[in-house]
Amino acid sequence: MPGEAVSVSGVRGVRFQSLNAGRLPPNAIQKYRFFQKERERDTSMIRFDEVSKVFGGEHVAVDRLTATVEDGQLAVIIGPSGCGKTTTLQMVNRLIEPTSGRIYVNERDHSSFDAVKLRRTMGYVIQEIGLFPHMTVGQNITIVPDLEGWSQSDKTERARELIDMVGMDPGVYLDRYPRELSGGQQQRIGVLRALAVDPDILLMDEPFGALDPLTRDQLQDELTDLQERVKKTILFVTHDMDEALKMGDMILMMQEGKLLQFETPEEILRNPNNEFIAEFIGAERMILSPLDVQVKEVMFATVPEVREATTLGEAVRAMREADTDYVFVVDGRGKFVGLADAPTLGELMDEQGKELEVGEAPLNPTCIEQRDNIMEAVHLLVERESDVIGVVDKGRRPTGTFTRGSLPRILADKVWPRDAAATHSAAEEAGGSQ
Ligand SMILES: Nc1ncnc2c1ncn2[C@@H]1O[C@H](COP(=O)(O)OP(=O)(O)O)[C@@H](O)[C@H]1O
Ligand SMILES: [Mg+2]
Repeated sequence: MPGEAVSVSGVRGVRFQSLNAGRLPPNAIQKYRFFQKERERDTSMIRFDEVSKVFGGEHVAVDRLTATVEDGQLAVIIGPSGCGKTTTLQMVNRLIEPTSGRIYVNERDHSSFDAVKLRRTMGYVIQEIGLFPHMTVGQNITIVPDLEGWSQSDKTERARELIDMVGMDPGVYLDRYPRELSGGQQQRIGVLRALAVDPDILLMDEPFGALDPLTRDQLQDELTDLQERVKKTILFVTHDMDEALKMGDMILMMQEGKLLQFETPEEILRNPNNEFIAEFIGAERMILSPLDVQVKEVMFATVPEVREATTLGEAVRAMREADTDYVFVVDGRGKFVGLADAPTLGELMDEQGKELEVGEAPLNPTCIEQRDNIMEAVHLLVERESDVIGVVDKGRRPTGTFTRGSLPRILADKVWPRDAAATHSAAEEAGGSQ
């Protein structure tokens, strides 16, 4: 009954939140954690069992793929062009038939379904949007309901409800033609069309790939928001790692038809299981353990140095010129003696005059070798109750400082992957616009 199909709970009346609602925290690792959705049931929705596709008798496009996507998960298929992503997706809705192996949908061998009916129970969104130019927004959205024989009033009601869901005004947009919409709006309609009959499964093939970065970011946020509510099982193809990390509960990493790794984004960032994946992820995105970071990677390198015999006046001038509060004091051979700080030297100068030699001043003698681990530097800071320690090379020549202030930066840059804060604040500024 079409009338029943439109009143499935969780869809009816649901509104997309404004862009800012449900915003990802700028911190990336939290982002990945927050969006590991809790599953309602731990059941397989799409299961690939040794699935292969060979074109023309010899070209292996997909090679013995075995993987299970659970109910309510958003699984991203990622890999370079030609690695078999689209083929994999189209085998699920049987636009392409596997050469061997089986695909189970809801634990039923999907070759046992009628292919056309099966296809209609799965939403399908492609990069090229694929709206029919001569049909209105409302008609485009309800193509499948139309094929299913819904009444005109049911179709209109469903189209209005869906348009409203993406924060667009049904009164304005229902009867518009695709050419009257922006690219982003057209792709929203493409997503709505896929949701029209409330399918359990959504197949999305680089759905946001043709959009400008800001619009893409908005649609990603909206889909995440929508998915929080409707909990579809989504197979989402992309070749954009940022998109995969942002959207995926699970990531299927493919190369030349083979599944290389099938893990949560967090696990892939932590433990890419081969070189190719590590390269694909990019070094700057990897989650490093603090144990893997050396002091020299996070120290401040612009600290001037003066000999012990230098006067306080000159030492203070050196700091002022370098715009820092610290100066290294070194011996005749350039080796680290200690760190002097501006307030201490300033006070001493008031008491004793600026001609006093800096070697006579109270110095902070703590230093650490630059290739030591940052955890050791942190221990030293804590142990000495100091705000700063000197960093030296193997020959004890100063190379930089490590400060308490370094810590947040280390966490942001090194331990956690580079976050999308910049992108997000840009999106925030553009907040209200569609
Ligand atoms: N209909 C087809 N006939 C022959 N080869 C194909 C066909 N479709 C795809 N291929 C080949 O299969 C491989 C995987 O293609 P595809 O799944 O489209 O890759 P992706 O979506 O990852 O870019 C490619 O080498 C492609 O050229
Ligand atoms: Mg493709």
